[in-house]
Amino acid sequence: METGQSIGVFDSGLGGISVLREIVALLPQEDYIYYGDSGNAPYGVRPAAEIHALTMKGLEILISQGIKALVIACNTATSIAGEDIRRRYPRLPVIAIEPALKPAVLSCKNGTILVMATNATLKEDKFRCLMESYAGQAEIIKCPCPGLVEFIERGELDSPAVEEFLRNRFAEFSGKNITGIVLGCTHYPFVRSMIQKVTGSKVRIFDGGAGTARQLARRLKTASLLKSSEESGSIKWLNSSPNPEIINMSRHLFRA
Ligand code: DGL
Repeated sequence: METGQSIGVFDSGLGGISVLREIVALLPQEDYIYYGDSGNAPYGVRPAAEIHALTMKGLEILISQGIKALVIACNTATSIAGEDIRRRYPRLPVIAIEPALKPAVLSCKNGTILVMATNATLKEDKFRCLMESYAGQAEIIKCPCPGLVEFIERGELDSPAVEEFLRNRFAEFSGKNITGIVLGCTHYPFVRSMIQKVTGSKVRIFDGGAGTARQLARRLKTASLLKSSEESGSIKWLNSSPNPEIINMSRHLFRA
């Protein structure tokens, strides 16, 4: 691995761009290759074996570009394939996002925390273990949101239909005093303002993007792989979707 190589960032689609934004804000001098598998999104409603196979196939494309580090900017892929990825690429620094339950529990002690994520993420043992490690410190409620990723893949972030989807989704928790929400899917930060509007300004919202960026910076520093801060960086966009607009949409979301 060499300092001048790019950093690969992977997601099932456009969601990982919310993580890429945080990474570029912290490490603007680096070169990035973003691969979104929008042609196969959403992953979260697929069986685990399919998610595993699609993730590995997408990663092969990034690895073939000769990257110096890999960011799994997809909670679903981390849950299903995180350990296998580390085993398959033992020399590559791999940084994998996870639902930001820790900061949520620390700031909402004794409160009620809703974890919004895909069905696949919430079903996996990895999440069960994470949830159990905070048992007794807060009430943690799983909130799978099938259907939400599709709005973001279409670039629809603040339409009345998104608002209606969220109001319907949160209706069952109206009797609960929700104090915090964890965005456990990298697509969801793009509808953060709408989630805040629907749940009210008192609810605190957490996502793992900034923490993932800090972890990447630490790993690159330890491995002496950071580019000098005087250099300028770049982003190369790759996507499996046949939609000719997908790269423009990616750039647009990056600036959103
Ligand atoms: N962005 C992904 C995540 O963080 C998954 C969305 C999907 O493809 O279902 O979980």
